[in-house]
Amino acid sequence: MIDLAPPVSLGPDRPMRLRASAAVRRLVRETRLHPADLILPLFVKAGEGLRDEIASMPGVFQLSVDEAVREAERAAEVGVSGVLLFGLPEHKDAEGSAAHDDREAVQRATRAIKAALPDLAVITDVCLCEYTDHGHCGILGLDGGVELEASLPAHVAAAVSHARAGADLVAPSSMIDGVVGAIRAGLDGAGFGHVGIFSYAVKYASAFYGPFRDAADSAPAFGDRRTHQMDPGNVREALREAALDVAQGADLLMVKPAVAYLDVIRQIRDAFPERPLGAYHVSGEYAMLKAAAERGWLDERRAVLEALTGIRRAGADLIITYYATEAARWLAEGE
Ligand code: PBG
Repeated sequence: MIDLAPPVSLGPDRPMRLRASAAVRRLVRETRLHPADLILPLFVKAGEGLRDEIASMPGVFQLSVDEAVREAERAAEVGVSGVLLFGLPEHKDAEGSAAHDDREAVQRATRAIKAALPDLAVITDVCLCEYTDHGHCGILGLDGGVELEASLPAHVAAAVSHARAGADLVAPSSMIDGVVGAIRAGLDGAGFGHVGIFSYAVKYASAFYGPFRDAADSAPAFGDRRTHQMDPGNVREALREAALDVAQGADLLMVKPAVAYLDVIRQIRDAFPERPLGAYHVSGEYAMLKAAAERGWLDERRAVLEALTGIRRAGADLIITYYATEAARWLAEGE
C-alpha cells in the first residue's frame, strides 16, 4: 500500500501554493507597478524635426520642441503621468542666464506640451548646470565654489520663468542649501502659489549620472559636485536634507539615484509618510540595462520591470525613468 501522508517535515504552511499559477501569483502580488507611477525625462533644444540620439543612452534623444511634444504624446497614450524637462540652451555663460529666458527650449516645450496634453503633468528641472559655461550647478564665487547669494536668485528666476510657461511642478536639482525656500518665496511672490515643488531632496554625488552629462552637455569643466551633492555612504544626512526641504515648502520629495539607494528610499518613505516620494532611476541605471540587453546578456523587459518594481517596493510612489514609455507598454501587454 502506498502511504499518501506527506513527509512529517512539511507542515501546513506551504508558501508555494500561492506561486503555483500566474493567476494566483497575480492575485497576491504585494507591489503593483502602474503606468501612472512613471515620469519620462525629456531633453529639449532649439530647432525643428530634430531627434539626435544620445550615444550612451540608446533610445533616448535630444529633441526639438515639436519632437518633444510627439514623445510626450506617445508617453501619455500609454498612461505615463508626467514628463520632466531638461533644456539644452543655444548659449551658455558664467551666470547660466538662459535658464530664465522665456524663449528657451524648456519654456517653449512646457507651453507646447501643456497646450497639446493638458492632463499630462509637466515638471521642469531647475538647475544651472546645463546653462553655465563652466558646467557647475550654480554661479561661482571668487574661490571657485558655488556662491549661494548669486545662485539662489538665479534658481528662483528660472523657476518663475517655468511657472510662467505653465509648468505644474518645478524640480530644483542642484542640492544648494536654501533653494527650496527661495523658490517657494519667489513663486508665491510672482503669483504662482499654485505651482508645486518636487524637490530633489536627497541627491547623491553619483557616478551613475555619467550618461546624463553627455545627454545634457553638463559635465563640470573642472572639479566635481561633491561639495553640494551627498556622499554615497550617508543616510542619516538624507533625513536631515529631506526635513529641511519639507520645512522650506517641498510638496514632493525625491531620492536619486534609485537602485543603489533603496534603503534610503525606505527610510524617507517611513520618516515622511505624508509626502509623495519619487525616485530617479538615472541615466547610468538605464545605460547599464540597455547595454546588457543589447548584448543579449539580460532579458530587458523582465530586468527593467523587476528594477522598477523594486523601487516601488522600497517605498517610492513615483519613478522617473527613461524607460517610462516602454515600461508602460510592457505593463499594458501583461505578464
Ligand atoms: C542636474 C541634474 C543631473 C541629473 C538630473 N539633474 C546631473 C548631475 O547632477 O550631475 C542626472 C540625471 C540622470 O543621470 O539621469 N541638473
